[in-house]
Amino acid sequence: MTQPGNVRLIRVNCTGMVDPKYVIKALLAGADAVLVSGCHPGDCHYINGNYKARRRVKLLQEILSRFGIDKKRIKITWIGASEGNVFAETIKAMVSEIKELGPVEARNLTI
Ligand code: FES
Repeated sequence: MTQPGNVRLIRVNCTGMVDPKYVIKALLAGADAVLVSGCHPGDCHYINGNYKARRRVKLLQEILSRFGIDKKRIKITWIGASEGNVFAETIKAMVSEIKELGPVEARNLTI
C-alpha cells in the first residue's frame, strides 16, 4: 500500500504514549496536521491508552483552535493492525482534506 510522500509515520507502542507536546512540536516544526491512530476501543494492549489519547486529542483540538489552528488538523482514528487498507485510505483522505485547508500558520506562534 502506498501513502502520499509528504506523510511521516512515527510509531509508538500505544496511542496513550502520544504526549500532547509531540503534536504541538510537530505543528511548530512544519507539519500541517497530525493523525493519531490506534487500536479500536477495548482493544488497547495497555488497557486504556486509546481512551487517554482520545481525551488528549479532544483537548488539543480545543486549545489549538483558540490559536487559530483548525480542529481538522488534529485527528484520532481507530484502526487495527490488520486494517492496512483502512489506514492507507484514512491517510489519503486526511492529506486531501488538509491540502484544501492549506499550510498551517503554527510556525509563527509562540506557545
Ligand atoms: S496498544 Fe494502546 S492504542 Fe493500540
